[in-house]
This record gives sequence, structure tokens and C-alpha cells, in this order.
Amino acid sequence: METLFLDKIITGDDAIVWQDDALYLLDQRLLPAGVQFIRLTNAKQTADAIRDMVVRGAPAIGITAAYGVVLSVMQHSDRWREALQSDVDLLAAARPTAVNLFWALRRMQQLANEITDDNAAAVLLREAQLIHQQDIAANRRMGELGAALIQQPTCVITHCNAGALATGGYGTALGVIRAGFAQGSIKHVYADETRPWLQGTRLTAWELHQDNIPVSVIADVAAAATMARGDIGWVIVGSDRIAANGDVANKIGTYQLAIAARYHGVKFMVAAPISTIDPDAASGADIPVEERDPEEVLSCGGHRVGAEGVTAWNPVFDVTPAELVDAIVTERGVVEAPNSEKMAELLSESGQRN
Ligand code: MRU
Repeated sequence: METLFLDKIITGDDAIVWQDDALYLLDQRLLPAGVQFIRLTNAKQTADAIRDMVVRGAPAIGITAAYGVVLSVMQHSDRWREALQSDVDLLAAARPTAVNLFWALRRMQQLANEITDDNAAAVLLREAQLIHQQDIAANRRMGELGAALIQQPTCVITHCNAGALATGGYGTALGVIRAGFAQGSIKHVYADETRPWLQGTRLTAWELHQDNIPVSVIADVAAAATMARGDIGWVIVGSDRIAANGDVANKIGTYQLAIAARYHGVKFMVAAPISTIDPDAASGADIPVEERDPEEVLSCGGHRVGAEGVTAWNPVFDVTPAELVDAIVTERGVVEAPNSEKMAELLSESGQRN
């Protein structure tokens, strides 16, 4: 795996790049201090990059995995069919919660089963690029639909990073925030720092600052106190998987944010593409929640802060019950006060997922 250092200005929209038969990923672990790309040429490297958080965010993981399938076919040339399943399994095992990963792999594999051997890599590359482009278009549409829900100029809180970096570009929650700021209904953004990986401090604030959108980072524990001041109209977040009843899995800390929002009369919006809805998960109880190395919690910014011998528990997602969600915004429509019936209607109207 090669790394490339760049001195030109890069935005979140440049984070996943296919060029010269290789996949280039902006290494999100180093942002904002370092802008460095990693060059990938096979599925194993792609799976490692997803697991190690070079790339993260549900839609971005799905797009990356789709390109990983292309790399697998290119690497194994005329033996690609024999190698495909084990490479797909490798990619699927990289992270368990973001359903976009499995959705993208299924879409790529279905196409792989239909095509002739002559042009497999080219056909699959076109499909991966289509998944990438469709995600950007979905984010633009969610931006419009989500921003339309915000009537009074207000301040918002967001959690983790659901921006260009976490998607094909533009962002889900940050797409709504970008559109809301452009139309004048969002005045200021409070970005939760999002311990332990600090996606809020490192990534969300970086993206918003680049766009000249006023942003203040707050410690995760400051969210309720920020709401209590009375100028927060909405919490706007993304999701890694939405169950068939509207329960929402997202970055750890989202659930307590939703509880605090309800208490303070603050509205709670989830922006996510249709590919994030998992009709096979009846409720949040069916969503696997990733647990990562306790060292991530015992350290901060790469420095060990916990005493030697102290242990930690590190679930990296939580599930917000549908009853705490005011609106789920997808590219195919908005579901207010979600429940099983409304989610089923959304999926049937939109012809299921791609
Ligand atoms: O662990 P991460 O950084 O991959 O978690 C990302 C999130 O929780 C995002 O909020 C979610 O994927 C939505 S991204 C559009």
C-alpha cells in the first residue's frame, strides 16, 4: 500500500478517487493535520483501509467496497470469478454496522453474476462509479428536502461526521446543513467532538470551516447545556443503518443527543440515503453494533490518558428509538415521526432499494 503526500488544497469531495486502475483514499485518520492519500490495488488492502478507518462513514464505506470489488476482478484477471466470493467476504467482514457496505457488495455481486468474462472489470468499474455518482445526487436531494423542514433561522447540533468525507461527496447531515446555510435558515453549527475518534473536531469542523459555515466544536458532554440556552432548533445527524421500524443506528452518543433534544423541545432529523435502510432489521435490536479496541477510549488524540491496567468498553454506535426521531430524510422523500408502516410505504413507493 503506497502513500502519497500532497500540498494542494483538498476538500472532502476529493476523498475517494479512482485513477489509473487504482483506488486512492484520503487518509481520514490524519486530517486535518495531514493531507495524504493511500493507493490501493486489491480487495485485501481495501478491506484493511475500511477496518482501520482510513475511510469511514456509511455511504463512503459502501462506495469504497464497490471499488474494492473492481480491484479484485482486475487483480485476478481471467480467474476473477473463482476469487470474487472470498474477496467479497473479506470486504464484508471489515466493519459490521454500516449496512451500505453490504448493500454495495450485493449490488456489485449481482452484476458480476450477470456479465461475461471479457469486459468484467470495465462493467464493474462503471457500476462502482455509478454508485458513487448516485450517492452524490442523493445527498444533494436530501439537502434540499432536509433544509425545507427548517423554517425559522436557527442554530443546529450535529454529531460525528456525516459530510462529504463520509459519503461520495456533499454529505447527508452536512448536506442538509450546507443547503440550510445557503438558504439562510441555519445560522451556526455546533459540532460534537465525537469521542473517541473525534470525527466532529477533526472532520466536521474542517469541512464546515472550508465552506465558511460558522461552526463551534463542543465536547459531547456539552450538548444538553448547549440546547438549554434555547437557540438550537434542530439536531441533524446521519445514520449507519435504519431498521424497518425507523430505529436509527448512528455514532455512539446520538441516542443521548436525541433524549436531550426531546427534553428541550429541539427537533431531531436523520438524513440518510435509501441504501441505509435495512428492511431485514425489524427493529434496532437486530442491528449489530461494532465494538472496537478499548485503547481508543483510554487514549485521546493518540496519547494514552487512562492508567495502566484500567479497562474500557467501546461500542462505537448506538440505536436511537424511532419515537425520538422527528424526521428521516432520504433522497426519495421525508418520513416524519417514523414507524414501521411509514417506512414500508417509503420503501414500496421508491421501488425498494437499488
Ligand atoms: O465510525 P464512523 O466514523 O464510520 O461512523 C460514522 C457515522 O456514525 C456517521 O454518522 C454515519 O456513517 C453517517 S455518514 C453519512
